[in-house]
Amino acid sequence: MARLEGKVAMVTGAGRGTGEATARLFVQEGARVVLADIREDAVEGVAKNLGDAAMALALDVGSESSWKVGVARVVERFGRVDVLVNNAGLLHMAALVDTQVADFERLMRVNQLGPFLGIRTVAPVMKERMSGSIVNVASIDGMRAQTGIVAYVSTKWALRGITRSAALELGRHGIRVNAVCPEAGSPDMVQPYMPEGVDAAAVLPHMQPHLRTQKDRSQADLVGDVAKMILFLASDESASCTGADFLVDGGNLAGRVVKGTPGSD
Ligand SMILES: NC(=O)c1ccc[n+]([C@@H]2O[C@H](COP(=O)([O-])OP(=O)(O)OC[C@H]3O[C@@H](n4cnc5c(N)ncnc54)[C@H](O)[C@@H]3O)[C@@H](O)[C@H]2O)c1
Repeated sequence: MARLEGKVAMVTGAGRGTGEATARLFVQEGARVVLADIREDAVEGVAKNLGDAAMALALDVGSESSWKVGVARVVERFGRVDVLVNNAGLLHMAALVDTQVADFERLMRVNQLGPFLGIRTVAPVMKERMSGSIVNVASIDGMRAQTGIVAYVSTKWALRGITRSAALELGRHGIRVNAVCPEAGSPDMVQPYMPEGVDAAAVLPHMQPHLRTQKDRSQADLVGDVAKMILFLASDESASCTGADFLVDGGNLAGRVVKGTPGSD
């Protein structure tokens, strides 16, 4: 039997990248999937390609009214929501001292307020069936920091806090809430910050210090691994998992290989 047979899933930011890969995998696994994105044309294209199991939804995750209208449309069409993947996200790169308030607030609205609004809107629908799985796509940058992305880092740490709060409050209603913390994602998110003429998809797998097991894997392979983790958490296979972080980072946070020490070569 398919791993999401009979389930209805909403995936935000499904117009490309990790969200698109997740939506495609969910349909393969028997789900009916709502592809939500602020870029309506993008999700319409992907949903058309996926056929009857898919529905495109124009949704701004940072808008309370957009969630209200959007979830009402999903319930009208499918009658239920079993899975919510809060995947939509924005990146902004600048040194801390150069980061403008407007950019900081823009990221908070989409990366932090967005998942909060999604959970708050969908939870009452899930409660009716006493069952549901919510997966928040955070980042490895929500587990440690990196230079040049203070707004992004802070929203991803916050999302892990939202995950735990929601898991504690919604558990008694049969709703599980987890966070996925990937290292890899869509090269499109990073491309605007690449030097002129440099292709993010080509260089990213080599910029990131993966373990040796990750050598020779493309960016698409790495994004596919993130989608598979989201699938596991969305499905009933992860029934014992809630309020937790799931790293998909090729071992990046395991520690460091110190050249010259025993076991390092
Ligand atoms: N790209 C990476 O290297 C990377 C690494 C780790 C984690 N992530 C996380 O993975 C998730 C998916 O990102 P991605 O890598 O696929 O990037 P992406 O930029 O390709 O996709 C993000 C999607 O979110 C949509 N979106 C943006 N603002 C929105 C809004 N207000 N409402 C609805 N949709 C909106 C965009 O239109 C886009 O389709 C994000 O949460 C991101 O932070 C990305």
